[in-house]
Parts: sequence; C-alpha cells; structure tokens
Amino acid sequence: MDDTGAILAGYEDRAWRAAAQAQREGGTNFVAGRRQGPYVWNLDGSHRVLDATCSGGVHTLGHRNPTILAAMRDALDRGLDGGLWMLPNAETLGLQDALAAASPAALCRSVITLSASQAADLALSFAFRLTGRHGIVAFRQGYHGNTGFSAMATGGESEGIRAHYNLPDGASRFFDTYGDLASIEALVDGTTAAVILEPMDYETFTPAPPGYLAGIAALCRARGARLIIDETRTGIGRTGPFWMCAKDGFVPDMIVCGKGLSGGLYPVAALVTTREIHEACINTHAYAYTSSLGGNELASAVGRAVLGIVTAPGWQERVAAIAARFEARFTALRQRHQSVFGVGSVQGGIATIGVVDRPTSQRLARRLFDLGVLVHSVSVAGPPMVKFMPVLTAGPSVADEISDALDQAASEIGAVTP
Ligand SMILES: Cc1ncc(COP(=O)(O)O)c(C=O)c1O
Repeated sequence: MDDTGAILAGYEDRAWRAAAQAQREGGTNFVAGRRQGPYVWNLDGSHRVLDATCSGGVHTLGHRNPTILAAMRDALDRGLDGGLWMLPNAETLGLQDALAAASPAALCRSVITLSASQAADLALSFAFRLTGRHGIVAFRQGYHGNTGFSAMATGGESEGIRAHYNLPDGASRFFDTYGDLASIEALVDGTTAAVILEPMDYETFTPAPPGYLAGIAALCRARGARLIIDETRTGIGRTGPFWMCAKDGFVPDMIVCGKGLSGGLYPVAALVTTREIHEACINTHAYAYTSSLGGNELASAVGRAVLGIVTAPGWQERVAAIAARFEARFTALRQRHQSVFGVGSVQGGIATIGVVDRPTSQRLARRLFDLGVLVHSVSVAGPPMVKFMPVLTAGPSVADEISDALDQAASEIGAVTP
C-alpha cells in the first residue's frame, strides 16, 4: 500500500472516518504533498491542482507565501517563541494596533485568539454580559464554529453539531432566508443578546443585499441586542476591502475573523470591537480572557505580516482585477453553455457560477478535479452553485485556469449553445 492508501486507511480507522470516506467516494483519494503559491500536489507529485478552496480563505496569500515565511523565520531568529501568556509583549500589541489601523475608527480594540470559533464564543460572551440576555439569532445555514456558543449559533443539519452533542438549545433562534430583514425582525426581541451572521450567505456565497446589514444594525440598536459580523472567510482583504461589511456604511459591535489572518502558516484569529465593549468586558475582570497560546508572539508576528500585505497600496486593485476576470469569463461561459451554467456572484476573490441542477454541479466539481482545479464546494442548499476561493496573490490567471476547466468540463457534460 502506498502512503496515500495507508493515510486514508489510517484516517478511516482511527482519525476522521468521514473525511477519508469523502475522498474514496469522490474517487479523488487526494492527500496533500508539495504545495506552492496557488497549487497543491498529491503525495507522489503526479497530480497538481489549483487550490480554489484556500480552506475557506486560510491560504488567500498563497501556500507558503515567502513574505509570511520570512516573517515567521525572522521572529524565530529574533529569539521569540510561544511567549509567556501572562507577560505583556510587543508583538501582540503590534498586531492589535495593526488590526485597529485597518478597521473603521470605532473598531479600535481586539482580542487575539487561536481560532475563529473561539473568537465567536468570546463575541457571544461579550454580548451576554453587555445585554444581560442569552438569546442568539443566526442564519440557519450559516456556520460560526464548533466550540461552545459558536456551535450553538450554527444551525445547519450537515455541519451543525447542536443536536449531536445535545448542546443547550433554548437560546438559539434561526432565520431561514439570508437577505430578508423581516425574518430577522420577527426573531429579535427582549431576550436577544446578539445577532451573528456573515456578510454573505454561507452556502451560496451570495453577498448581503444593499442595506441588509445596516438594517440589522439599526434593528439591533433599537431592540438592545448586539451585532456580530463573522468575517472569518470574507475579511482580511479576501473581497478586496479589509472587511467586506465595511462597504455597507455601518459599524457592527464586533467582527470575528481568523483563517486568512494566519497566512496559512500559524493559527491566529481575532475578535475586533469597540473601546467601550473592550473596556466593559475585558478590563473589568483580571481573567476575562486568557489563553496560553492565543495571540502568542509567533502568531502575532505572522498576523502582522499578513496585514502588511493586504493593507498595502494596490491590494484592492489586485483583487478587483481578479474579480473582473471572473465576471468576464463566467459571463462568456454562461452564454456558451446555456444548458449548464446560470447566475452566480463575484465578490472580489469569492466567485460562484450557477449550475442547472445539483447532480450536474457535483459532476462538474469532480471533473474539475481531474482537470486540475480543486473547487471550494458545491452548494448543498439554495440554488445549485460551484464555488471558488482561489489564492489571490497569483493574479487573474487563477480565474482563467478555473474558467478553462469549467469550459472543458461543461463541453463534456452538456450541449454547447452555438
Ligand atoms: C464563517 C466561519 N466562521 C467561523 C469559523 C470557525 O473557524 P475556525 O475553524 O478557525 O474555528 C469558520 C470555519 O470554517 C467559518 O467559515
């Protein structure tokens, strides 16, 4: 048995059965070997794929980005390590200051964590403290993590684990239609501590319609609840602007982020909030948030290097150029393969193309893998979509590689419109 077979068998036996089975059932049997920039190879190097998953944004800056690698090596060479959690240090403060500089002026405080799940837990804890309430309102098909409160705010049946672990469920209420303000209005009342949601539909990647998030912010203010925007996938420059929600002309109480902040090299996540909330929650209890490793010196050095790239002049233009290429190529694909493709959306480096039905979307995703493109996923709820989150440092060529593969796959699967 080669290494791939042994690893899949070992996973199936004693690690994570569903992950191994998904590989086998999909016929992909992919175990990652070498990786560089936008590409990942299988273990023996015989199959290269363009990574259009980026693990949901973890690898936005490319696998083993040289600038981030250098920052990490430099931190080690400067004598840093995991630090001592109880001692103030310059690296963590530097990352917090950099996050504040990249955010709207009101969001000038942060807490650095190991994962976005923990940041979401903390954001909800802040909301419980600030409001004296316990209710959580979230999108049913959303995902905010797999620890404590973040899991309670995750309602979907396939990824949600509330019922599985018999988590306390009295506090969570879910709305079913992303983009419909009225359905949130019906749920937010005097028991609601927080509304938590992403700036896009978790499943279809459809961006929040204009005014939707600002409307929720006003609703929360009027009813005494707090608004938490989860930018774990959409933030840190993924759509161009540092925060995707910033374009909507409102400031939430808290933003949760992670994934891309790690540069794909070292775990870093954060909760970004206002001075008032930070004072009321963190500086009123000596141990309001402690973590042995969250926001440690190495993590903070990596996070700062990431921010250095995505806040540099030209970043937004680079992402906009990729988005423009996606728009142009996907429009042409829709015309050429009218029986296969339909409407999708492009938000900076997050792109989808609609597909005629779910089985076709699955066939396309599988065929794209053979052709060298690893898609993020296909939607399991809402309109059928194939979804892409490619590496953004590679430039518009990623949109071309994806579109060329879609063109070929669609030519094989459906009739081409002349
Ligand atoms: C929107 C969103 N929020 C939170 C999380 C949790 O992030 P982590 O796995 O870093 O805890 C994820 C992870 O996929 C996510 O997609």
